[in-house]
Amino acid sequence: MSHVVITGASSGIGKSIAYTFAAKGHNLVLTARRVGVLEEIKQDIEATHGVQVDVLGADLSVVENAGTLYEDLSGYEITALINNAGFGNFNMLWDVEIPRMMNMIDLNIKSLSTLSMLFTKDYKDNDAQLINVASVGGYMTMPSAATYVATKFYVSAFTESLAQELKAVGSPMKAKILAPGPVETEFIDQANKTAKQEMDGSGFTFHSADQMADFTYQLFESDDVVGIVDMSDMSFNTRDVIHPAFVL
Ligand SMILES: NC(=O)c1ccc[n+]([C@@H]2O[C@H](COP(=O)([O-])OP(=O)(O)OC[C@H]3O[C@@H](n4cnc5c(N)ncnc54)[C@H](OP(=O)(O)O)[C@@H]3O)[C@@H](O)[C@H]2O)c1
Repeated sequence: MSHVVITGASSGIGKSIAYTFAAKGHNLVLTARRVGVLEEIKQDIEATHGVQVDVLGADLSVVENAGTLYEDLSGYEITALINNAGFGNFNMLWDVEIPRMMNMIDLNIKSLSTLSMLFTKDYKDNDAQLINVASVGGYMTMPSAATYVATKFYVSAFTESLAQELKAVGSPMKAKILAPGPVETEFIDQANKTAKQEMDGSGFTFHSADQMADFTYQLFESDDVVGIVDMSDMSFNTRDVIHPAFVL
């Protein structure tokens, strides 16, 4: 029995991805820190969609926990690993709390990398997918979010490079990047309490988490590498790699 593994599944985009993939018949493994919330989601999804849902709690801002989580997944056959857990911060760099930024780097970069590397070692000869959640901020700079967009540049560059490595050796495994624009989730409140008011007054259009989950499924079904929101019209498009490649 195969499963789709989703990190950050207790709220926002990850929670909606869980419901969308369950509706398509996928069994799930959900992970986040709020295990009680995940248990409620599990019960609701199992009752609604008749798929099997397992819950694994992990704080992925502690990098060692990513390795432990992957060990806990050793009994599963994984169809897709969706590295979605992450948080942002909207402050000028001189106003940031440095320990919080280091936590962000540990979660958004180091734990995502650990899970991606372990998964790739095990699944590179399988018909499996790694979907790493970046952001449009992984393709453009953003004053007031320097550390956050830098973590997402890492995710986009790392995953695009991996996608090309897999393609070069004819691997059946696919590595993909989801790059959302603004999405109505807990993210903005987590990023900075005042950022929501600023963004609400900024004229930004937000997607819903359910819309982003539908886009994620579109990317999952696509042969393309990147699924990205075009900020000029908020359309979602799948594309081949975007960063210029330097091939050795
Ligand atoms: N919302 C946006 O505008 C937007 C735009 C572009 C990209 N993104 C990206 O989309 C992804 C999902 O964000 P979202 O908007 O859905 O935000 P969200 O509603 O705040 O969800 C974040 C998820 O990550 C989990 N998480 C946070 N810290 C964690 C930790 N230390 N260990 C394990 N899990 C942790 C949270 O669960 P627990 O609190 O239960 O641990 C939650 O399930 C993130 O990678 C974010 O950077 C969001």
